[in-house]
This record gives sequence, structure tokens and C-alpha cells, in this order.
Amino acid sequence: MCAGVPGVLKGRSAARLPAHMPLLRGAVRSGPPYYIITTTLKRARRDRWRWMVGAIMRQVRTLGLLGTGVIGGGWAARALHFGIDVVAADVKPEMEAWIRGAVANAEGALSRLTFAPLPPKGKLSFTTDLCLMARSVDFVQENIPEQLELKQRTLAAISRHAPRDVVIASSTSGLMPSDLASALEFPERFLVAHPFNPVYLLPLVELVGGKVTSTDTVEAAARFYTFIGMHALRVRREIPGHLTDRLQEALWREILHLVNDGVATTGELDDSIVYGPGLRWAGMGTNLIYHLAGGEPGMRHMLRQFGPCLKWPWTRLEAPELTEQLIDRMVEGTQAQAAGRSIRELERLRDDYLVAIQQVLRQFNIGAGATLRALEERLYEAGAAAARGKLAAAAAGEGVAAPLRLLETQVRPEWVDYHGHMTDSRFLQVFGDASDALLRYAGVDEAYRRSGRALYTVETHVTHQAEARSLEPLYVTSRVLEVDDKRVRLFHVLHRRRDEAQVATAEQLYLHVDTAAGKASPMDAGVRGRLTALRAAQARLPPPPEAGRLTGKAR
Ligand SMILES: NC(=O)c1ccc[n+]([C@@H]2O[C@H](COP(=O)([O-])OP(=O)(O)OC[C@H]3O[C@@H](n4cnc5c(N)ncnc54)[C@H](O)[C@@H]3O)[C@@H](O)[C@H]2O)c1
Repeated sequence: MCAGVPGVLKGRSAARLPAHMPLLRGAVRSGPPYYIITTTLKRARRDRWRWMVGAIMRQVRTLGLLGTGVIGGGWAARALHFGIDVVAADVKPEMEAWIRGAVANAEGALSRLTFAPLPPKGKLSFTTDLCLMARSVDFVQENIPEQLELKQRTLAAISRHAPRDVVIASSTSGLMPSDLASALEFPERFLVAHPFNPVYLLPLVELVGGKVTSTDTVEAAARFYTFIGMHALRVRREIPGHLTDRLQEALWREILHLVNDGVATTGELDDSIVYGPGLRWAGMGTNLIYHLAGGEPGMRHMLRQFGPCLKWPWTRLEAPELTEQLIDRMVEGTQAQAAGRSIRELERLRDDYLVAIQQVLRQFNIGAGATLRALEERLYEAGAAAARGKLAAAAAGEGVAAPLRLLETQVRPEWVDYHGHMTDSRFLQVFGDASDALLRYAGVDEAYRRSGRALYTVETHVTHQAEARSLEPLYVTSRVLEVDDKRVRLFHVLHRRRDEAQVATAEQLYLHVDTAAGKASPMDAGVRGRLTALRAAQARLPPPPEAGRLTGKAR
């Protein structure tokens, strides 16, 4: 029996449901290769209906969510943002309004995470029919309450409806996959994929396989989570609490002791983290930081010096009794810290700094910043590949290519000036992003830059022609006006999407340099060839009136 009450898919995906059915019967739809693995299915001898899945084969276009509370809502927001459709299923019909609100709420911060070109957003639909969800999706993520028996029963029911090449993952904070999968159909496609709140901003997901989980399942899951911008940390073997919650729990247990013993308030204990270790953890974690703290001899010295106190020990292994007095101290302490701010307000503050931290770490290519950078690399490359396809199609037709549309963006609320218009410096940023996208199209990517070659901006001329207000959707079209061995001259137009008005233009001259020598150098022949082909394809377009114009000269 399937958990949940019969119902129908609601929302825009409802009309699309029949289109999924061929996929459910095994056909693979065309589209971006989110992950593809070849499959070998071998019939198991003991049961003619059971197949041993040698590998998983499913392109994830639609994610199914089982349980749509805090964590289900977070998964939905992340998946939709990166172009995956979501079918959300919950036993409570009122969760539809909740999850739609949660997705809208998450979008504010999520939309500021990266400026890289994103695919069109996924579509969200909701159902109370859990089996219908299981039949209509490519990947199931379970997020129901942390109760072993409830999860076992519900997952078993779902597994009878989800086609066997659909991965089923559980968000459980501490239960072990072998226990959860005890009654599953095709348990080799099951694993734990433990995320962190807010799922839409924190990239970590712990992947834990059980006794029978196939390596292909873990691989396929890792590819999917990477596709939606996450860092998949493979846990070597199943243990209660996986890795991170064991560490978090140790810290929390000690906090409870210190509050219980009247040594410190919750606020003082949080200060002891946020002004010190918390700042270090985001970039290097605990072990690498301790390695540094040991001076030249590193970790060996650190262990010699501080190892003995681990035996005293300073800390305790058993949590204190959760007495009414301790609960009151914890609640009053955190209420004092909140200082009248609502949970929503605090969430917004948390989300904003989580975005900012990741953008800073991105510059150093470490931790969550490295994940963000890798995601952007893929997004830019996908945008460039689409543009190459468009250009090839145009060249095969009339031989005249329109300006390339490589960058879609929106005026972020923090980009506006005192008049409520997009401020000057942001025009430079948007045009810089457009140049990046075009040059990437030509092959100037991360690997190219790592090889010690880059294009430096030597001149920019911007004209401003119309207003762009907060949240205004915009796009940029780009042309190559001139290219030689060492230089390329680009021309961009920024458009308002609502009325196609031309908001601004930019003409930019780039010089190719050898970054180690700090000197101009000839660009790679492939890069030059692509830029030259693009210039030739666009050569019959009328020259832009703003190109070569001096500041203030009438048009
Ligand atoms: N909250 C966190 O910080 C966090 C972090 C990581 C992982 N998790 C794990 O994620 C899971 C969900 O946690 P949460 O905080 O989102 O819980 P939640 O209480 O916010 O949401 C659970 C949802 O599941 C629904 N539900 C209950 N029984 C169901 C059933 N049989 N079928 C379908 N839906 C059902 C409920 O209506 C509710 O909407 C838990 O396993 C938890 O350990 C939580």
C-alpha cells in the first residue's frame, strides 16, 4: 500500500504528466546530460520479478520530494533554481501553500549566489498522492520525520511505484541506510543523502551507502547533486549520525553542559565560536587549522602538545539530562540573542551572509567557494555551448549571425542608486560578465587562464540610454567588431526584457596577455579562430551607431 491519500498532481506539471510516461518505461529524453550511466540489468535467479540493477540509468529532469517541510522546501528551491522540475508530495494538503512560500522566500538569496547564466527555472507541482509522485519522477528525495518505522514503511511503498532505475535518497540526519532500506524494492538504488539547512544555500550533502547500495547509485546521486551546485561528500561506511552530525552533536552536548552548569549563556557560547573558530572553519575546517597551529612541525607538534589534555578530559561524552531548568535556560538564552527579531528576519540575515561568504571563498577557490566556482564553470560552459550551437545554425542558414545573446540577468535590489536606477558600477559588472561569457564561448575558460594566458580589459566606453529599475529583467547581446593576434574589440547592448528597450551599450577593447610575463602575447589559434569566425558571421550586420563614438559626440 502506498502512504498518502489519493490525489492529483496540481500546478503546471499536471498537464505535462503524460509526457513523462515514455520516460518511465525506459526511454531517455533528449536534453542536457545531467548524468548518464549505461545500465546492465541481470535477472536474479530467485525471483523472476526482481532484477539486479547493475547500474542506474536516469537523466534527472524531475525530482520527487517525499515530505515538504523545512528540508523538502529547501531541496525544492535548489532544484528549481538550477532548472530541475519538482513534484512535491506530502500527506498534508496545506503543505502546498507552505512549500510555494518557502521556494519564493529562498529565491531572494539564491538568485544572488551567482551571476553565471542559469537554465530556465524548473516547474513546481504538488500532490498528496505519494505513489503518483513516485511514478512520475526521475529521482526521489525523502524528507519525512526522523522516525525509523515511518521512514521504512513509506520508503518501501514508494519503492514499489518508482521505476527501478530511479534513485531513492533519504535526507535522514542520523539513521543508517541499511536499516531504512530493509523492505525496499531494489534496495541497491537506495542511499542516504544528508543535506544541511538551508539546503538551497549550503552545498554539503553527505552520501552514505548501505550494505547493498550499488556504487553506481552513489555515483549517479553524486552527479545529480553536483549538477544542482552541491558538494557530495562520500561517507566511507554507514554509522549513526554520519559525519557532520556527530561533530555537531559533540559541540552541542558540551554547550548543554556548560549552560546546565551555569558556566555560560547561549549567547556567550555562540560568541566563543563566531568571533574565532567559526571564521576559520569555513575555509579550512578543524584539522587543517590545527595543523597550522602546530607551527612548522604542524599536526605532529599539535598532538604532542595538546593530545594529553584529550585524556583528562575537558569535555564529557554523555549529554546532561534535559531538565525543565536547562530547557528554560536554552530558550531564554536564544530569545535574548534574537532580540525581538522574528525567525524570518533572522533567516534573511543568515541567508545574506551565507551568500556573501561563499562569494568571498570563491575568490580563494576553497571550501564552499570552490564548489561555487566549479558550478559557475559548468554554467558558463553550458551557456557557451548553447551559443556555439546557435551560431553554427545561423552560419548554416544565411551566413549572418545576429548578436549573441549570452547573458540573462536582473537588476538586484542592492544595485540601485538613490534615484532607484541601476547604478553606474553595475553596468561595468554586467558588461564584464557579458565579455566573460563571449570569451568563454571562444575557449577562454578556467583551464585557459590556468595556463597563464588571459584577456585584459584596456578600454571601455559605456553609453546610457534608458532606465533599469530594481528587479528589472535584462539581457545582453554581444558582437565581435574586430580581432587580430593580440586584440579583440567587443560591442555589447543591454536590453530590458519587458519592452526590448536598449538600456545601455558598451564597447570594450581587450588585450591578450601572458600573465606570468605581464606582456601582450598572441592568443591561442583556436580562440582566435572562433572569434574571427564570429566576427565574419556578424560582419554583415549594420555597424552599431555607438561604436567608435567619442564621449558627448552627437549620434
Ligand atoms: N531540519 C533540519 O535542519 C534537517 C537537516 C538535515 C536533515 N534533516 C532530516 O530531514 C528530514 C525532514 O526534516 P524536516 O526538518 O524537514 O521535518 P518537517 O517536520 O519540517 O517536515 C516533515 C514533513 O513530512 C511530512 N510527512 C509526514 N509523514 C509523511 C508521510 N508518511 N509521507 C509524506 N509526507 C509526510 C509532514 O507533513 C511534513 O511536512 C528528517 O529526516 C530530518 O532528520 C533535517
